[in-house]
Order: sequence, then C-alpha cells, then structure tokens
Amino acid sequence: MHISTYIILMCFGSVQLDQLKEILEKAELEIYIEETIPTVNPRYKLHYHITPPVGWMNGPNGFVFYKGEYHLFYQFYPYDTQWGPMHWGHVSSPNLVDWHTLPTALRPGNEQCFSGSAIDNDGIMVLLYTAHQATDDAPFYNESQYMAFSIDGIDFHKYKGNPVVILPPTGTQDFRDPKIWKNGNFWYVVLGSKTADHRGSVLLYRSKNLLSWEFKSILAESSGALGYMWECPDFFELNGKYVLLISPQGMVGRGDRFKNTYQTGYLIGSFSYDTCQFKPEINFQELDYGHDFYTTQTTENNGRRYLVAWFGMWESLHPEDVDGWVGAMTLIRELDLVGSRILMKPVEAITKLRLETIIEGEFHHNATIEFEKAGEIIVNIDLSENIELEFVGNNGGDKTSLRWSVEDGKVIVDRAGDVRQGTWEPLDTVTWRIFLDASSFEVFCGEGELVFSSRMYPNGDWRVINRGPQSLHVVAYTLKRFQPE
Ligand SMILES: *[C@@H]1O[C@H](CO)[C@@H](O)[C@H](O)[C@H]1NC(C)=O
Ligand SMILES: *[C@@H]1O[C@H](CO)[C@@H](O)[C@H](O)[C@H]1NC(C)=O
Repeated sequence: MHISTYIILMCFGSVQLDQLKEILEKAELEIYIEETIPTVNPRYKLHYHITPPVGWMNGPNGFVFYKGEYHLFYQFYPYDTQWGPMHWGHVSSPNLVDWHTLPTALRPGNEQCFSGSAIDNDGIMVLLYTAHQATDDAPFYNESQYMAFSIDGIDFHKYKGNPVVILPPTGTQDFRDPKIWKNGNFWYVVLGSKTADHRGSVLLYRSKNLLSWEFKSILAESSGALGYMWECPDFFELNGKYVLLISPQGMVGRGDRFKNTYQTGYLIGSFSYDTCQFKPEINFQELDYGHDFYTTQTTENNGRRYLVAWFGMWESLHPEDVDGWVGAMTLIRELDLVGSRILMKPVEAITKLRLETIIEGEFHHNATIEFEKAGEIIVNIDLSENIELEFVGNNGGDKTSLRWSVEDGKVIVDRAGDVRQGTWEPLDTVTWRIFLDASSFEVFCGEGELVFSSRMYPNGDWRVINRGPQSLHVVAYTLKRFQPE
C-alpha cells in the first residue's frame, strides 16, 4: 500500500497508532535516503551493477519473479558505510538488466532483519527471513525466522504472529538464511546452521501453510573440512540433478582454492522428496574464483535458473567507504549444468547495455583500448601462446593483469600482486568475456566454466593494454548505465 492509501484508511479511523508510527518511520527513512543521495561521490559508483543508494550493502535476499517483474532485496544499512543493524533494501527489474530502487522493504524492530528469501503465494509476496536478536547470555544473540508479506511488492508488513513455528537445532544459536520453494502441495525451506561440535550444516523443513514447519532432514553436513558454519543455502534441480549451494565459513585454503576469507560453492547429487535425502556425487566446488564473491540468491523463471551474488567479501577493503556508499551485486548470471560442473553466463539481455563498438579486429602487442567507466571486451584466444592483458586507470590506481599461462594451463587474475587462478579446459568456445564497471571486473571464460569476479579501483577511466606477445582478435563495446539512472 502507498502512503496515500494509509491516509485514506486513517480518515476512516481504521489505522492504529502503532501503524501510524510505522508509516511515519518508513517515510522518514525514504526522505533521509533521498536527501543523502546528492552527497555520494560518484567516482567508483557502478553504472550497471546494483549498489545501495547510500550506506552499506552486503548479501542478496529474496530474489523472486512477482507480477511480471524480478525483485531483489539485499542486506542494507542506510545510515553508515559500515555494517550496522540490518534492513532489507529493495530493487526491481523487468529484464534482470535495468534495475530501479524501491522503498526499503524491512526495517529492524526488536530484531535485525538478516538474510532470507521470497515467494509469490497466489499474488501475495511472502518474505521469510532471519530475526537476529541480542540476548543477555553468551553468545549474546539468538536467531529465529520471521515472515513479512506484501500485496503490491512494494509495501511490506511483518506477520503479527512472528516467529514462525520452526524447531531450531540444538547446541547452536546459528540458524539462519531460510530459502523457500514449493514442490507439489508443500512448501520447503533450507536453513544454514552448524552442529554442536562446529561443523557447517543445512537443514530441510516442510510446511503446508508457511506458518508451521516440520523438520525433515539434515540435507548435508561438513565433515570438518568444509568449515564450521554454512550460510545462505539454496537447493534446486538443474538439468535433472540437484544442486546445493552453500557459503561455508572456516575452510582452509588449498593450492589455488579457497583463498578468500569465506567461500561460496556447490555440491551436486540426487534427491528424493519421499525420503528428503540428498546424496552428493562430487566434492565441494567454488562457484567463482575472484576476490569478491560471497553468498548467493537464485530464482527460476521460464525454465531458466538465475543467480546473483554479493560482489564483496568480509574483511575486504572498500575505497568507496569515504564516498557515502559501500557494496554491490554481481551481474545476474544464468546457470547451466554440464556433467558435474555449474556454468555461469551473464544474463543474455546484458547486450542491451552495449553503446558503441570501439574496436573490432586485431588488438596488437602494446596497443591500448580506452573505455570510460564501463565496457565489455570479448577476446578470442589462441591457447598455444601466453596472454597478458593489463587493466589500469588512465590516472593510475589498482593495476590488474589477466593472463593465460600455456605452461600451467591456468587463467590468472593478478590484482596488484594478490593472485587468484584456476585451471581452464574450455568446453567449447575459447573466448574471454570481460565486464568492466567503475570499480569492478568480471571475466567469464568460455561457456562460463571458470569465472572471476573482483572489485578493482582504477583512478579515472579504464585503459586495457595488451602486454602479451600475441596480437588478439577482440570486440570491445562501451556500456551504458542501466535505466533509470
Ligand atoms: C531471542 O531473544 C529475544 C530477546 O531476549 C527473546 O525475546 C526471544 O524470545 C528469543 N527467541 C528465541 C527463539 O529464543
Ligand atoms: C612494449 O611496452 C613495454 C613497456 O613500455 C616495453 O618494455 C616493450 O619494449 C614494448 N614492446 C615493444 C615490442 O615495443
């Protein structure tokens, strides 16, 4: 409902005092955001990735297709560029490329609004999220699951009977990030948790009415090697297999793997709704090899499975924190499953953002391509020779090199000496598709079998220099901002 509707309702005397207080607080927050936007320094503000209007953003929440539009929510603290009491920010899009900001969907009450998901229940949008509450005794918080709903996808109301009835695990206060879906006559939800002896786990529950949930199974559990806590689980069918996405905390790095503070990745296996048992067939695989990728949301529409992740990582530095905003989402990716590997491709409609073709042809040794703040380069690769592309600002700043090493068979992203790399065996096309935004870099190798997402901070506009020995065949486009600005 819009404020005007409330005012009409008020005139008929049907609005209670606490509802009036809520309306005023919502309005006050939106006015604060509108008034603060002009103070944001735009130098690093991304042009075609979702960012908070002001303040802090972390993980994505509630990705859903509802009444003809995609909706996405995110962990949001409007009042500072540091993490603070969690709200849910909100954007929507007709096409997964052009996004517009909507009013803040959830504000903390006696709880902080931690991560969760959204579903369309016969025209009512239902959010299920984790209420994180301070308590007097160690570990000084508890977590339960709250519900909120909306009849227009804009204005949200918390369910008066919160928390919903869902039995928490014993021996831990960590029980969060519900991801909900429907199968047949039942609703299902997976939650991230840990065992009493600190091994990450995912719990599966089932419900007929969304309000009362029955525990069904431990869908998966860390043996110890997969960390002490699993956050933001997601579970879905893809090409006849079942995929469990998890974001483990506490994994130990091994060679090129698991180099960030925390990880996000997947298990693939078989599952039966009769027994609710999931049998993984592969070891945990990271989804993205870049520096800044943690926690995901997926949604399905028209038989396609879309994924978005927080384009960030705990403990990363954010040079934009003096600019009035922090944090972003990755490009929306479409998932595919080939063998036991998930492929990630940028959503098809991203080509709508192409503005001008600035080069199509040979990109010679030591030649330079200049973009403004945003561009896309498609590089055709000859795997028999080393490749080295340098990315830097026209006034300096972070210098990154993207390399192909023939000797190691690896793609290497070297951000000022901080290296992420992975073995690349192209499935089909031998190309790199690189997306540059004002402070970000994403490279999709081949069909999306290897992807790196990293925040990068060039001073000024982007310059790309071919430092390798071979002349490369490239196509490069400048990209425009998504609409509306
Ligand atoms: C969590 O703590 C809050 C504050 O002490 C309390 O009101 C609430 O009932 C607790 N919830 C659970 C599920 O223990
Ligand atoms: C390419 O540029 C580098 C750095 O400026 C320089 O050292 C090198 O000699 C150049 N290569 C050629 C073939 O001119």
